[in-house]
Amino acid sequence: MVLSLKNKFVVLSALFAIIVSLVNCSNNEPKQESNKADSTNCEKPKPLNPNGDSELALLMRKMMHTSESLKEMIKQGNLPKEFPEEFLTIHTAKPTDSETKKASFDGFASNYVSNMKALYASPKEELTKNYNAVVTACVNCHSEHCPGPLKAINKLKITE
Ligand code: HEC
Repeated sequence: MVLSLKNKFVVLSALFAIIVSLVNCSNNEPKQESNKADSTNCEKPKPLNPNGDSELALLMRKMMHTSESLKEMIKQGNLPKEFPEEFLTIHTAKPTDSETKKASFDGFASNYVSNMKALYASPKEELTKNYNAVVTACVNCHSEHCPGPLKAINKLKITE
């Protein structure tokens, strides 16, 4: 049997997980566009749990993989299938450091979720625009909360 689309997705996700694990919040590069964020409290402290990764960090990695897959699908003009309900847990997922989530976190998180919903309800001709709006929502939160992955996140954008 031919590899189903789902299996391909799993394989791609696994590959991507490896890449993303190299790009984490501790990679705070000095040269970042619009990176005026005073916070660098996104640096990785020693792992607190046996796996070494917070709920939020794991969720973020999935968000990163999903965005990569979405980017490829949308570039080919395909509508995404199921909404990734799991991402709704962004509000409650525990960060590496309890100080990480600042007061503005929930606003940024809601903005991300509503942009995702708009994307999944999007007519075909607006997929690219709505997808890029999701990436902007990632960027907005990261500029303030966790500048490290900004470079990688910016690469998710589809240039029109
Ligand atoms: C509401 C704020 C917010 C939004 C929106 C957001 N992030 Fe994050 N992201 C964070 C925070 C905070 C962390 C640090 C998590 C931790 O260390 O526990 C993080 C961590 C990450 C990491 C590093 C994970 C690791 O391996 O440690 C990546 C990659 C990432 N985000 C990508 C994304 C992408 C892609 C999007 C959009 C699809 C996104 N983020 C949207 C706040 C956000």
